[in-house]
Amino acid sequence: MASGQLSREEALACSGYRHACHAMLYCDTNTQLFGRIPIRHIILMQMRFDGLLGFPGGFVNTQEETLEAGLSRELLEELGVALPLSVEDHVDARFAPVPSSSSSPLITHFYMRKMDEEQIREVERAAASTATDHGQEVLGMVRVPLYSTKSGGGLAFFLSHSFIGNARSQLLDSLLRLNLVAPKDLHKALTQSLKMHT
Ligand code: GTP
Ligand code: MN
Ligand code: MN
Ligand code: MN
Ligand code: MN
Ligand code: MN
Repeated sequence: MASGQLSREEALACSGYRHACHAMLYCDTNTQLFGRIPIRHIILMQMRFDGLLGFPGGFVNTQEETLEAGLSRELLEELGVALPLSVEDHVDARFAPVPSSSSSPLITHFYMRKMDEEQIREVERAAASTATDHGQEVLGMVRVPLYSTKSGGGLAFFLSHSFIGNARSQLLDSLLRLNLVAPKDLHKALTQSLKMHT
């Protein structure tokens, strides 16, 4: 595990920090792109108001709510569905990169929840219709392409976009941790995505 990681309890014991909780909702799928490229898994991310990609979730006021209650509140605002995540879904906490001088330092918590494909589709429908943040703080949900096309499109191009905070490494860690992409395929996509920046 990368340095800077904290347990949930260690993180909560840090005084003077703000906390933010974000979640990766995902499922398995048998569907295929163009009827021949297995999609294998659906992972939900979002296009934020600021044009960056990130996971659903947000700031939690730990004086007023538990991390998980705050995360569930944020998911309701951003996705339009009640999705009570629990302590068991907590996978990571770490200090965020040094913030702008005006704001207090931040600890980011990450949660993962595997769902059924139909539940994921319901989240997508709600996020695009009833979610109060739709079209405001959240411009839309996106699925992460985990495959590579013959011309090198797919995961590599996705990773070449800009991400909020450490959302990109949260995604990469999760892909490896859950074995959603083979390490050698991830390595190839990463190498390609770095070339795309230049
Ligand atoms: P407001 O309602 O405008 O306060 O937004 P929010 O509560 O939804 O907060 P947001 O989702 O923007 O997350 C709070 C902070 O956490 C951001 O300012 C980023 O620094 C960081 N952040 C946002 N999204 C992610 C993410 O996907 N991963 C990580 N690690 N950090 C994130
Ligand atoms: Mn078409
Ligand atoms: Mn929010
Ligand atoms: Mn948010
Ligand atoms: Mn918020
Ligand atoms: Mn808000």
